[in-house]
Amino acid sequence: MASPGAAGRQRPAPLSEKEQIERLKRAAAAVAAALVQDGMRVGLGTGSTVAHLLPAIAERGLTGLRCVATSPATERAALALGLAVHPLDELGELDIVIDGADQVDPAGWLVKGGGGAHTREKIVAAAAQCFVVIASADKAVEQIVAPVPLELLRFGAGSTLAALSPARLRDLPPSPDGGLIADYFGPVEDPRRLAARLSATPGVIDHGLFAPEMVSLILIAGEDGVVQREGAKRT
Ligand code: A5P
Repeated sequence: MASPGAAGRQRPAPLSEKEQIERLKRAAAAVAAALVQDGMRVGLGTGSTVAHLLPAIAERGLTGLRCVATSPATERAALALGLAVHPLDELGELDIVIDGADQVDPAGWLVKGGGGAHTREKIVAAAAQCFVVIASADKAVEQIVAPVPLELLRFGAGSTLAALSPARLRDLPPSPDGGLIADYFGPVEDPRRLAARLSATPGVIDHGLFAPEMVSLILIAGEDGVVQREGAKRT
């Protein structure tokens, strides 16, 4: 509730930590939305940061946008805002893909999949000429740590989890493609080595480690504004 200031005026109540983070997510999303231009094929990520991106894109009133959604939730939200959503295979290559992240390290490695959508997100990001990551500053980390999200084939999931121990299923419904969502809780140390190990484990459909070479631009919103970091992807 607002409290009276020294001169009797109402001072706005300070923002809670959650509200401050939402404000930062919105700021990063606004910068990314400004990169979208008329006629683009746009990949839309999933999550609470992307929830700010969708209205920011829709409000621009651009013409000829064709979007691809990385989850049913994003598809519903995009359609409700009047954005045209197409299957990825109809568009093929995308001009720009914008998505959030759970962790971003100094080398540009990402962890994604907090919402369990990382397999579709990785496929869509890989179809992008330009992949833009948007995040609040709390997502910037010195070192990637577990958990690393996994999507597993249902068949033999117990054996797959045992091969990656410590790893366990997450209390989430299966992905829209029928995969089981799980997390790896072991050491990360070298993300590239862990990514290779996860990819090589039979039964792993995909994991939430995204290599720096996939990423074109990282927008990190902090108290001093939105910092732009160039990714390692070359177009
Ligand atoms: C969805 O599965 C995730 O990859 C999200 O993109 C990621 O977890 C970031 O989510 P928030 O924007 O909600 O933090």
